[in-house]
Amino acid sequence: MRIDVVSIFPDYLAALDLSLIGKAREDGLLDVAVHDLRDFTHDRHRTVDDTPYGGGAGMVMKAQPWSEALDHVVAQGHAAGLPGGRPHLVVPGPGGTPFTQALARQLADEPWLAFACGRYEGIDERVYEYAREDLGLEVSVISLGDYVLNGGEVAVLAMVEAVGRLIPGVIGNAESLVEESHEDGLLEYPIYTKPQQWKGREVPPVLLSGNHAAIAAWRHDQRLARTAARRPDLLHPSHGDADLDVRLAT
Ligand code: ADE
Repeated sequence: MRIDVVSIFPDYLAALDLSLIGKAREDGLLDVAVHDLRDFTHDRHRTVDDTPYGGGAGMVMKAQPWSEALDHVVAQGHAAGLPGGRPHLVVPGPGGTPFTQALARQLADEPWLAFACGRYEGIDERVYEYAREDLGLEVSVISLGDYVLNGGEVAVLAMVEAVGRLIPGVIGNAESLVEESHEDGLLEYPIYTKPQQWKGREVPPVLLSGNHAAIAAWRHDQRLARTAARRPDLLHPSHGDADLDVRLAT
């Protein structure tokens, strides 16, 4: 999979060199390119923002550097002979569709993702139109959760990690993907390792019983109880976001 990230803080994305994602890059499973939005400005101050039309607090990211950055991402990808022709453009923002495991799975099927990290109050709306209409990109605005970050970079780190680990070969033991929280709508059961007794606390005896059916039943009960306590919305999906599709997320 090819991933492009455009940001005014490219150093933020240095974490993508580390751990499993860094290893996936070394192994050629992920090709990540980070671009500095300011490289696409033409003034002495490398200006990327300006005041909002209609007034209001804060600054808005200008359309011109963004359009040139996106042109560059698309042209560079084509020069590299990327499959699929065009990236799916993801713009992280608190006003987007909630990011879920289901959405991560959809994005993991794409051959090419481009992330546009907004800062300040966001990006001039015409950039979204340009990306869709002139560049022919699919554009999705995606939120990490119902809180406000200072920019999209932290959200991109989270999304690339969640998506990247779903790419075949990135996680050594594919079984560990199946048993995780959110893969089947329930949270994970509690886990224990040696020693059997620690600070006066015992491992639940069923886990030492060797009775695989009893262990599976205990784990399922624990998952249900945890989900009911921490995330009752998951047990009543009509109140959740399980049915949202990334293709509506613009
Ligand atoms: N940028 C600012 N807040 C965000 C959020 N909650 N999710 C994704 N990107 C953001």
